[in-house]
Amino acid sequence: MPLVTGIELLEDARRRDYAVGAFNVNNMEIIQAIIAAAEEERSPVILQASQGAIKYAGIRYIRALVLAAAEEAKVPVCLHLDHGPSFEQVMECLRYGFTSVMFDGSHLPYEENVRLTAKAVEAAHAVGVSVEGELGKIGGVEEEIRVEDWDVVLTDPEVVPDFVERTGVDYLAVAIGTKHGFYKGEPKLDFERLARIHQLMPDLPLVLHGGSGIPEEHIRRAIPLGVRKINIDTELRAAFVGKAREVMAAKPEEIDPRKILGPAREAMKEKVKEKMRLFGSSGKA
Ligand code: G3H
Ligand code: ZN
Repeated sequence: MPLVTGIELLEDARRRDYAVGAFNVNNMEIIQAIIAAAEEERSPVILQASQGAIKYAGIRYIRALVLAAAEEAKVPVCLHLDHGPSFEQVMECLRYGFTSVMFDGSHLPYEENVRLTAKAVEAAHAVGVSVEGELGKIGGVEEEIRVEDWDVVLTDPEVVPDFVERTGVDYLAVAIGTKHGFYKGEPKLDFERLARIHQLMPDLPLVLHGGSGIPEEHIRRAIPLGVRKINIDTELRAAFVGKAREVMAAKPEEIDPRKILGPAREAMKEKVKEKMRLFGSSGKA
């Protein structure tokens, strides 16, 4: 199946009240694990490349691996740029056939975020690709991006309509207390803030970053409040590496990488399936 755009998936999620998992990828086994999970769950899926993934594997490899996986898949697959820091990188991803891009101007002053996001939207829309923007500043560490607790800025709901209207973004990452990486203690999500954003912009698909480690009841509560894309990276890595470690400890003499990466891929697939069921995307493809 050819790749589909992000907005196609998130519009269906909005109509049928579920969320699509956006899972970070950087090698063949991870891509295979996620696609196999989507096929088994009959779920739409977003595969996304972070800045670290682009440094590690390169945009061309990621694109080629995802295209190979999607070609065979019977479920809709979207290829997304995660936390794009510049107009140039957005353009590069458009040239390589990504079907969704994020321009992350959250560290910029508001007017600058508006200006650069609108520029990315204009270019992406010209070739039929949908765009995610970010308003507020999400905490935690995601490879290249580190935001300390004191630097977190929660999204001001009252500013959202202005940002969306002036930039033309198709979906919006909001800062409501989630964090990238593992949480220390229980995450505290600001549901009042999320509800107000949803009340002001009921048709706008919202994106939750830092999806790893959020208790299931919080996820179930967030979805009807407009959350249509949930980003997960850390929990998938933990499943993959945890299994690889287990195999290496049990068989220290093993030197065939496939005997280690194969079971790790299987463990990651099970974690992705669990998330798809939780997000309500299972059976929707
Ligand atoms: O953009 C990717 C994420 O927001 C993933 O966050 O590693 O905490 O799951 P996570
Ligand atoms: Zn993120």
